[in-house]
Amino acid sequence: MAEPSRSSNTASSSSVGKPRIAVILAAGKGTRMRSRRPKVLHPVGGRPMLEWVLDTARHSGCEKILIVVGHGAEEVKSLVGERNIDEQDITWVEQHQQLGTGHALAQAEPHVDGEATLLVLSGDVPLVTAETLEKLATAADGRWGAAAVAELDEPGTLGRVLIDDAGKFVRIVEAADANPAELAVRRVNAGLYAFSAPTIFDYLRRLNTANAQGEIYLTDALGLAADDGEDVALHTLKDFSEAFGINDRKDQATVHRALLDRHLQQLMSDGVSILEPARTAIEPTVTVGAETLIHPEVSLSGNTHIGPGCVLHQGVHITDSRVEGGAEIKPYSILDHAQVAGECIVGPFARLRPGSVLLRGARVGNFVETKKTQLGVEAKVSHLTYLGDATVGDNANIGAGVVTCNYDGVNKHRTVIGDGAFVGSDTMLVAPLTIGDDATTAAGSTITESVPPGALAVGRSRQRNISDWARRQRRKK
Ligand code: UD1
Ligand code: MG
Repeated sequence: MAEPSRSSNTASSSSVGKPRIAVILAAGKGTRMRSRRPKVLHPVGGRPMLEWVLDTARHSGCEKILIVVGHGAEEVKSLVGERNIDEQDITWVEQHQQLGTGHALAQAEPHVDGEATLLVLSGDVPLVTAETLEKLATAADGRWGAAAVAELDEPGTLGRVLIDDAGKFVRIVEAADANPAELAVRRVNAGLYAFSAPTIFDYLRRLNTANAQGEIYLTDALGLAADDGEDVALHTLKDFSEAFGINDRKDQATVHRALLDRHLQQLMSDGVSILEPARTAIEPTVTVGAETLIHPEVSLSGNTHIGPGCVLHQGVHITDSRVEGGAEIKPYSILDHAQVAGECIVGPFARLRPGSVLLRGARVGNFVETKKTQLGVEAKVSHLTYLGDATVGDNANIGAGVVTCNYDGVNKHRTVIGDGAFVGSDTMLVAPLTIGDDATTAAGSTITESVPPGALAVGRSRQRNISDWARRQRRKK
């Protein structure tokens, strides 16, 4: 292998004015996940792990982002379409055979012209912050390079960072190659680096596969540089959780929890009460207003906004929905792509499906399901009801057990219920139809035609009482 070009005297070069390029290593097989899906697409905190890393790279002032893909490359690339990610600063780099992290970074060389600062991230280390990358870039300034390290109580499978008595970097040993003394080292390699290009590429050419995993280790490049007397800076992460990498499903759970915890801490600092954080799952994408009270077993995910002063009771699940200030969602209610205005009361055991819109002060009670339905101001649907493809006017009252029969087996049809209407209990509303303002339907009616405003519609057979019925039955016996 070629010798590194000694002419590139990195010790004196400065990153000032040099372009900053991020390289995300995301080609690995991730065998320990035991999955057919590429590892970097597995979700943590509500998003594929690669998306977190990409976001961080974008926030750290990189003008170009190279993503090295290989295993499941097409699937990984389709992430941008599926997640609606802007692709303009991304260059996809193929690593056809996954020979190790050193080999992965070497694939970036044709895409790096002249001098540059490379910020190298691993696609499986999603907790890293842009601030850390900035610090790494600064630490590498005027040096050969810099690596982020953390002290972990359980260093697990991460590479151990060895230093000499003077605290100077010596090398990184992978857990698979470490002897017991080295394994006992708690200082781990976070897999985040700042390097000077083109020097780093010269070092990558000197790597070999003489290790337990038969891979070309990027980490060995740092050891070679230290051997050459180069200055390799170590940046210690204050928040050691930033170093958590995901190699198996247990790591995935750890990182997922860490991402949620970070967000819960932030929400609590901002004035949200979360009574039992360990039993609450709020994805980082979710915003919550101050003075909102959140009980245990609540799960909030996706593009969800909860306004100020709301109460979310035990077991409430909300996805991609908006709940405005002062609303109360009672236990075990489910909201999916729903909008709930201020002062509404929902649940317990309510299910608001996509397209449900509740205007101010509307109430939805237990065992009520709504879909593509708008409830007017202070409208009430209190018990055991299905409303699909419906519009319900202001102050309307929907009795117990009402059903919009919206589907004829082929098409869906709309039901329109006017302001102040009273739909009696157990009314079947065979759509399409309109119940006029202030109209009433008699309990137990099957309504198949529109009802004019103010009218009473009775759509059931008249009651007949047969006297002495019980005595007659007895006589027959
Ligand atoms: C690596 C480091 C280890 C560090 C850990 C931090 C090496 C040799 N070891 O170990 O010191 O503590 O990260 O999380 O670098 N990848 C490729 N192509 C490949 C192999 C891997 O792109 O041929 C990518 C993977 O998709 C992954 C990243 O590089 O995103 C790290 O690879 P992984 O196999 O997970 O390395 P670790 O064993 O975690
Ligand atoms: Mg890893």
